[in-house]
Amino acid sequence: MKRDNFGTRLGLLAAAAGSAVGLGNIWKFPYITGKNGGAAFILVYLICIVAIGVPVMLSEFALGRKTQANAVGAFKKLKPKKSWHLTGVVAVSTAFIILSYYAIIAGWVLSYISKAVTGKLTSVAPSALGDYFGGIISQTIQPLFWNFVVLGITAFVVVAGVKDGVEKYSKILMPILFVLLIVLMVRSVTLDGASKGLEFLFKPDFSQLTPASVLEAVGHAFYSLSLGMGIILTYGSYIKKEENLVSLALQVTILDTLVALMAGIVIFPAVFAYGLEPNAGPALIFVTLPAVFKSMPFGAFFATLFFVLIAIAAITSTISLLEVVVACFTEQFNVNRKKATILISVALFVVGIPSTLSFGVWSGISIFGRSIFDYLDFLTSNILLPFGGILVCIFVGWVWGAKNAAKEISSDGLFSFKQEKAYSFVVKVLAPVAIGMIFLYFTGIMSKLKNVGPMLPNIVLGAIGLLTLVLAFFHFKTENSGASEEA
Ligand code: PHE
Repeated sequence: MKRDNFGTRLGLLAAAAGSAVGLGNIWKFPYITGKNGGAAFILVYLICIVAIGVPVMLSEFALGRKTQANAVGAFKKLKPKKSWHLTGVVAVSTAFIILSYYAIIAGWVLSYISKAVTGKLTSVAPSALGDYFGGIISQTIQPLFWNFVVLGITAFVVVAGVKDGVEKYSKILMPILFVLLIVLMVRSVTLDGASKGLEFLFKPDFSQLTPASVLEAVGHAFYSLSLGMGIILTYGSYIKKEENLVSLALQVTILDTLVALMAGIVIFPAVFAYGLEPNAGPALIFVTLPAVFKSMPFGAFFATLFFVLIAIAAITSTISLLEVVVACFTEQFNVNRKKATILISVALFVVGIPSTLSFGVWSGISIFGRSIFDYLDFLTSNILLPFGGILVCIFVGWVWGAKNAAKEISSDGLFSFKQEKAYSFVVKVLAPVAIGMIFLYFTGIMSKLKNVGPMLPNIVLGAIGLLTLVLAFFHFKTENSGASEEA
C-alpha cells in the first residue's frame, strides 16, 4: 500500500501544531499556571518542555520517519521478534480512549457556539450559568448529538487522507485560530482592570511552587505536546527525509507554548476585569467566561469567537487522535482508509456513551471512586500516557539506540545535530526517570506508600536516585564504547 505524505512544510507544521494546540493549552495551562505561582511555574514549564518535551518529540518523529509505519508497525519493523510493538498498542489504545471523551468536551464547545451565536448564552443571568452548564451536560440526547457532530467532522477530515484531509484543513484552521486569539487578546487586555489578570498570570510567586508543581509541569508538557500516544510518531511517518526534524520539533513546541500563553492573556485579564474568581476545571470556560462575555459590550459576538477558537483547537487535536488509530488499523489489518475511519468513529461514539451519561443519568456509577468520565481521564492522563512515554524513551534510548535515533534526526547527517549528547542523556536517563516520578505521584502511589510506612516514600525516592545513577553509568559507558550502531 502506498503511503501518503505531507505535501508542504507549512502543512506539516500546521498539522503537528494543530495536534499539540488543544483544550490543554486554552483551558488547562492558564489555570495551572495561576495556581502554581504564575511566572514561576511558566519558567519551570519552559525548562520541562525544552529538557524533556522536545527530545521526546524528536524521538517519536524519528521512530515514525525511520520506519515509515504506524505506531504499532514502527516497533515491529525495528524489533520484529520482540514484544515492543505492545508499546504501540498501549499508545493507540490511549489515543482511542482519550478521543472517546475529548470529543465529548469538544461537543459541549460546539453546543456553546450555537448558543452564543443566537445570543441565548449571554441572556442567562451570571448566577444561573453554573446550573445552565450543568443542565446542558446532564442531558442525554443533546450531548450525544454534538458528540456525533464532532466525530463526524473529524472522520470527514481523516477519510480524505493525510495530504488532502489532515494537512489541508490544518492549514486553513490554524491561521484562523491565531487571528481569533489575537482579536480576543486585544479585547481582553484593553478592558479596565485587565492588569490584575496579567499580574495573576505573570508575576512570579516562588512560594506557590512545590515539587508537585514541577511534576505537574512535566505531565502537562507531555499532554500539551501530544506525546506518548503515537501521534507524533504517526505524523513522523508522513515526513520526508529532507525535512529538518530538530527545527520542526522546536517550531511545534514554540507555537504550542505561544498559544498557551496567549490563551492566558485572553482569559485572566477579562476574568479579573469583571471581578470574578478564576476557578478550576471546566467551569472556567463554561461558566466563568460566559459571565464575562455577558458584561462585555458585543458580548455575544466575542463569546462566539471564543468558542469557535476552542472548537478549532479541539478539532485539530481530535483529527490527530483519530489519524493514529486509523493509520494503525489500515496498515496492520489491511483495511481501507474509509472503512477503518467509519468503523472506528462508530466505535468511538458507542464507547463515548457511558462517559456522556456519567454527567447525567449515570452520575451515580463510580469506578474506584470516580465517575466514568473522570476515571477515563485519570486512566489516560496519569497512567497510560506516562507509561507509553516511558516505554518510548526506553525503546528509543536503549533498544533501538539513541545513536540510531540521532542518525535519523539528523537525516543521516544531512543536518547537523549538535545537541546529540544532551539528547541521548535525556531519552536514556532524564526523561524515563522524570516520567516515572509523575507516574508515582499522580497515581497516588506515593501517598499510599506513606500510609503504609512513613519512611517508605523516602526509600522509594532513594531507589529512584540510585536507579538514575545506574542508568547514567551505563549511558556514559555505551556512549564511550560507541555501541550498537546500525548495520
Ligand atoms: N495536545 C492537546 C492539548 O493540549 C491534547 C491532546 C492530547 C491531543 C492527546 C491529542 C492527544 O489539548
